Amino acid sequence: RREYIVDGFILAIDQGTTSSRAILFDRKRQVVGVGQKEFAQHYPASGWVEHDPEEIWETVVATVREALRKGRCRAEDVAAIGITNQRETVVIWDKASGKPIHNAIVWQDRRTAQICVKLKKQGLEPKFTRKTGLLLDPYFSGTKIAWMLDKVKGARKRAEKGELLAGTIDSFLIWRLTGGKVHATDATNASRTLVYNIEKNEWDSELLRILGIPASLLPQVKDCADDYGATDEKLFGAAIPILGVAGDQQAATIGQACFQPGMMKSTYGTGCFALLNTGRDLVRSKNRLLTTIAYRLDGQTTYALEGSIFIAGAAVQWLRDGLRIVKRADETGPLARQADPAQSVYLVPAFVGLGAPHWDAEARGAIYGLTRNTGPAEFARAALESVAYQTRDLLDAMHKDWKSNGADTVLRVDGGMVASDWTMQRLADMLDAPVDRPTILETTALGAAWLAGSKAGVWPGMKEFAKSWALDQRFKPEMDDATRAAKLKGWRDAVRRTLSTES
Ligand code: G3P
Repeated sequence: RREYIVDGFILAIDQGTTSSRAILFDRKRQVVGVGQKEFAQHYPASGWVEHDPEEIWETVVATVREALRKGRCRAEDVAAIGITNQRETVVIWDKASGKPIHNAIVWQDRRTAQICVKLKKQGLEPKFTRKTGLLLDPYFSGTKIAWMLDKVKGARKRAEKGELLAGTIDSFLIWRLTGGKVHATDATNASRTLVYNIEKNEWDSELLRILGIPASLLPQVKDCADDYGATDEKLFGAAIPILGVAGDQQAATIGQACFQPGMMKSTYGTGCFALLNTGRDLVRSKNRLLTTIAYRLDGQTTYALEGSIFIAGAAVQWLRDGLRIVKRADETGPLARQADPAQSVYLVPAFVGLGAPHWDAEARGAIYGLTRNTGPAEFARAALESVAYQTRDLLDAMHKDWKSNGADTVLRVDGGMVASDWTMQRLADMLDAPVDRPTILETTALGAAWLAGSKAGVWPGMKEFAKSWALDQRFKPEMDDATRAAKLKGWRDAVRRTLSTES
């Protein structure tokens, strides 16, 4: 007979790029049930990436049910849901039926590169950057929405008649979870759309006009801990309040308790995203980083500088599924360890262009330094090192943009790749700075759960939550300066040779 532990559970829904997950926490913030399901990636053309929103929806519902079942928890014992999601990916759907008009266009998708080039040629990039903190790159949602309105038959007309709604994945899930009652998003997700003014905290009518997006499509923007309605009873057996929402990188920043200005985290998932908390200061980058909203709580905005790398864990996935030189991702570190130190093989994983600080949408991946002796071990090392080199490039740019009151900025890391000691040691070596790995690696889910749990009054406030962050291991740099300098020089040469002529 099943016994139920009553009350106070918090459920985090983490809708990521390659899988949907649901993580159930008990009142003591322990994980008691996890559901996870991968879903299909669609690549209809070179540089295009799509997801089927119906499949995303089905995997979310199934994983929530699985997490509840594994945690032996009834829906009525869940105090609140927190949602975190792959950012920038957009869906447009019919208001009446809830049916998407097209597949979701994923953040990695490059199809709007030419729209961005055209806007840049019109001299509009400074305007977009001033208002949104972002750059004109196909990464962000705005041009993807414009593309759908232009290319899907009848979409623009229907949008103008008010028949359609648009939003990032959080928004689409909120709409579906609440049975079509709530069309909302949070400030962090809004800050990735290219049409949200991060200083005024509102949709920007001028930018909407430039991109030809009717304002009626867009969701209401709320605080990260706020009332987002409740789930339709029919879904899980009870109406569960949705009280927290944040983009996954921002949720990880919260989960890593990077609440003080100068604190920084880097998450190694499909891509790698480093966020530096800059507090109330909206720091404008002079080094091609993004300014973004870290979180908005009680109407108060905290900003961050962000460096975005599109391929990190995806390079390991490529070794596994594309090249098939490893069977499992965790074989990559041990294989890299066996690589020949005399060989200098560099992989520039520009599979979907390059993000910060280069922002080159047209570049494609390249590998340099192959010899007759190069084999799987050197490929594995090159893939893992590419992640360390790219993080170094981001941190160099961050240090230039942000003078951290003399205090040392330690990097807190999380995400699947940080389980590899070899990769973390290489990262510390390349950064020439310590790297801190916490005991809890579910930081993204934890951040979303904290937003919902603290709003529900079940979890503690920010200060006490921050105190519970615990260190698993600090990786300290061990490489000698000359070796590091030579390796970094090799990497920079490789990147230079890979950049497209458009950059
Ligand atoms: O900006 C894209 C990012 O939110 C995706 O994160 O963890 O799915 O690589 P992830």
